[in-house]
Amino acid sequence: MNERRRYSETDRMSSLISDNYSLLMVMSRFGISLGFGDRTVAEVCESQGVHCPTFLTVANFINEPIHKAGSYKNYSLPALLDYLKRAHSYFLDFNLPSIRRKLIETIDCSGADEVATLILKFFDEYAREVRRHMEYENRNVFTYVEELLAGNISNTYDIDTFASKHNQVNTKLTELKNIIVKYYPGKENNNLLNAVLFDIYNCEQDLATHCDVEDYLLVPAVSALEQQLQKEARNTKQEQPQEVEQEALSAREKEIIACVVKGMTNKQTADSLCLSIHTVITHRRNIARKLQIHSPAGLTIYAIVNKLVDIADIKL
Ligand SMILES: [Fe+2]
Ligand SMILES: [Fe+2]
Repeated sequence: MNERRRYSETDRMSSLISDNYSLLMVMSRFGISLGFGDRTVAEVCESQGVHCPTFLTVANFINEPIHKAGSYKNYSLPALLDYLKRAHSYFLDFNLPSIRRKLIETIDCSGADEVATLILKFFDEYAREVRRHMEYENRNVFTYVEELLAGNISNTYDIDTFASKHNQVNTKLTELKNIIVKYYPGKENNNLLNAVLFDIYNCEQDLATHCDVEDYLLVPAVSALEQQLQKEARNTKQEQPQEVEQEALSAREKEIIACVVKGMTNKQTADSLCLSIHTVITHRRNIARKLQIHSPAGLTIYAIVNKLVDIADIKL
């Protein structure tokens, strides 16, 4: 068995396939076309508009998965999301229908063979389960991630909710494969049966890896984005109150500022506005807190800028 290694930008793209043919699937889901000759991974990615670090992250993960937080960095969440969407289309629109066609071709599904009919029924139930799983992800998880990428954070959903319920979808396929191997009576067309079994083995492995990519690459990247957006939202919130409070001066507080900048004492202000001195002092304290301005000179500037007084009335 070949020793697994981590690929880099300078490796030849063709050597990835020679080492591990399942990487063909990864290339196709990144939209990489074959016919790349001796060009390197970086050259092929650049010429085909593929985000190279993300391609290498997924290829290396599939080649030798490291199920450890923080093992993978520098990949792009939009590129990974695109890859996962293409993988869903591959399973739902191509791979599972193709296995079903081969099953029908291989086993007698006319109704005469009860075991064959039950195998097909088992497969159809399984395919429906995978469809539900992937459509849920397309509709809820991927849409949620797209919203996050647009800078919109949700109060009602987070990636931990998805991760805690996310399960493997290959288990039933393993069961189907075992049922065929152990219980389906051998017929004369064993080659066809073997071919469909090979497809099921590959699909089982491919689905298991797909779920692992979601758990070990998608979830940590989304979680990091959530934390970043939450931090930004907290910072914005801390900056906002001062602006809001500055605009929230009451009419009485504006009258008091006008008196202060005209040079009136607290007593004169209280008499002029028919208030107690105690109330005037409380108002002045609130004004200082709201505007973060504590000196008469500062209040004068504020009053002029906000047209609270006629400049002719100001005691300079
Ligand atoms: Fe998925
Ligand atoms: Fe999944």
